[in-house]
Amino acid sequence: MNTKTIRDLTPAELQGQRALVRVDFNVPLDGAGKVADDTRITAALPTITTLLDGGASVVLLAHFGRPKGAPEAKYSLAPVAARLKELLPRPVHFLDVTVGARAVEATQNLEPGEVLLLENTRFLPGEEKNDESLSYEMAQLGDFYVNDAFGAAHRAHASTAGVTKFCRPAVAGLLMEKELAYLGGALAAPERPFVAILGGSKISGKIDVVEALLPKVDSLLIGGAMACTFFRAMGIETGTSLVEPDRLDMAKELLARAGDKLVLPIDATIAPAMDAGAQASAVARDAIPAGQAMFDIGPASAAEYAAIVEGAKTVLWNGPMGVFEKPPFDAGTFAVANAMAKATALGATTIIGGGDSAAAVAEAGLESQMSHVSTGGGASLEFLEGKNLPGVSALDAR
Ligand code: 3PG
Repeated sequence: MNTKTIRDLTPAELQGQRALVRVDFNVPLDGAGKVADDTRITAALPTITTLLDGGASVVLLAHFGRPKGAPEAKYSLAPVAARLKELLPRPVHFLDVTVGARAVEATQNLEPGEVLLLENTRFLPGEEKNDESLSYEMAQLGDFYVNDAFGAAHRAHASTAGVTKFCRPAVAGLLMEKELAYLGGALAAPERPFVAILGGSKISGKIDVVEALLPKVDSLLIGGAMACTFFRAMGIETGTSLVEPDRLDMAKELLARAGDKLVLPIDATIAPAMDAGAQASAVARDAIPAGQAMFDIGPASAAEYAAIVEGAKTVLWNGPMGVFEKPPFDAGTFAVANAMAKATALGATTIIGGGDSAAAVAEAGLESQMSHVSTGGGASLEFLEGKNLPGVSALDAR
């Protein structure tokens, strides 16, 4: 990796210093206002602990939800602070402001080994504008900067990018390093066969990933409703399935160009409506009747995809195969998740590209059986598209 990480810092750069650490604590809350899934919090703990063990104090910056540049109680990081206190056996403080004199004073009062989480960066109007004076204010909160927020690295915001102009060294945290190693490794030097699985409802949201992955993979398996746009491009009737008519030409062109590499479902699990799971049936892909829609890949496709995945040496998955939140339309997605777990056991490198597929793997209880489950949604997608991540390029190069 070309980016410096906290491993590159000398003991003198850590001891007694304030580490300003950007984390992605954008986690879901439950109905009672408690953290419902702490994956992103636990994923940042190795970086925090390493810095604390090195004699630094840790000042955490994070965004939460999408407030519009002003405080909103429902977007306070207070519930996240409560969960962090439970997870981290060190003194953890929370302050209801993000920058300014009170915040700076609180960072200066920290003892080595202590943690301070500051309030939501998006309560400040300059954050998403990558405002220079806010970046400067943020830089006053630490003696060096660490970005461990892979999930927010595709945003050029004050706390992910601008701050590095005024706070150096600026290095990657261990989670950031791991994400870039797995996702970047798969793209740069995959052990073959290299199989990618892409799903989700719309081809329009995944087209750049398809384009970027096609030259690199041995097989690209397509699932989810986006398969229906390909079916229509092949002249196959798709009933009431979700199709993007304005993407048909693009799908046709891709089919012609990709040849055997692009693998489409051979059958479909269909129903009259998404909530009519009891009436679901499996049909060949060219037998979807009028008035019915595809809500999952069919069982024959699931078996075929599982066999391809189990024979691969590198597998990258982004996007569910069907409406996995609604059984029986979860079968295709779980078949892929199980096949990936088997592939891992057989020695393959298996990577979940975040978002819905990460949620599906968690629901299947298979997280620990994957080589890597990315904490990034939009960030992993942009990385796989080959885009520059501003939160990474702002860091010190080796
Ligand atoms: C995410 O949840 O994917 C990241 O935290 C980024 O959030 P955003 O899409 O609101 O920038």
